[in-house]
Amino acid sequence: MNILTFPTNEMLDEAAAGLIASNLQENPFCVLGLATGSTPVGVYSKLAEWNQAGKFSFRNAQTVNLDEYLGLPQDHPQSYYSFMKTKLFRHIDLPGEMAYIPDGSTPDAQEECRRYDRILERNPVQLQLLGLGHNGHIGFNEPDRGLKAGTHIVKLDPQTRQANARFFGSADQVPTHAITMGMAGILKAGTILLVVRGQDKAEIVRRALTGPITTDCPASLLQTHPRLIVMLDQEAGRLLA
Ligand code: GLP
Repeated sequence: MNILTFPTNEMLDEAAAGLIASNLQENPFCVLGLATGSTPVGVYSKLAEWNQAGKFSFRNAQTVNLDEYLGLPQDHPQSYYSFMKTKLFRHIDLPGEMAYIPDGSTPDAQEECRRYDRILERNPVQLQLLGLGHNGHIGFNEPDRGLKAGTHIVKLDPQTRQANARFFGSADQVPTHAITMGMAGILKAGTILLVVRGQDKAEIVRRALTGPITTDCPASLLQTHPRLIVMLDQEAGRLLA
């Protein structure tokens, strides 16, 4: 595992976007695994800026997103589809049909999970960007007695709904379930880039990276990945030796 700590948000954004950009430059046909949440927003602005400046192109790339709320139509302002459109897709030259996100409004969510796993199988992720939930979730793989390998439907933890209440007005309005890529889907990526910011994440960063590997902290499974790169701001990294 390679842990890098940055003194400013701007430097962290540039480093994370730089790694994604170099993957695209080396392999314009690469498949990128993307994440939502507040953490990658600055990374996406940098990528959009550099793409518009012609430093690289997304024209031949593909993206697969980690997760989506169940029950939200794509055009709901808080769907992860809308998030990706607003924060990244609308600003870059990625063809619309090359961006995969689970369909949260599907009438058959089980079939949607199987369809998504087929997409992942056909398009192996070269670089997976991840954020980290306060309870150690990645994607929407919540702490549990057991974790699932494939894409599945998950009941969101009350802590997760509370954390995401800021986008919906109140925790009650946050959907109760989501579709998420499973742990095997995430760990299959060639390289994983975990980005975490803020002192409120320092304890979970410590547990995830230096604690025991346990399903109580799904992110701790990242310790088993042969190519894990962690980019932190100083606050998030303050409990690491
Ligand atoms: C969300 C997403 C995760 C994200 C995490 C942290 O619920 N499903 O993919 O990494 O929570 O979000 P944030 O970056 O806003 O702290």
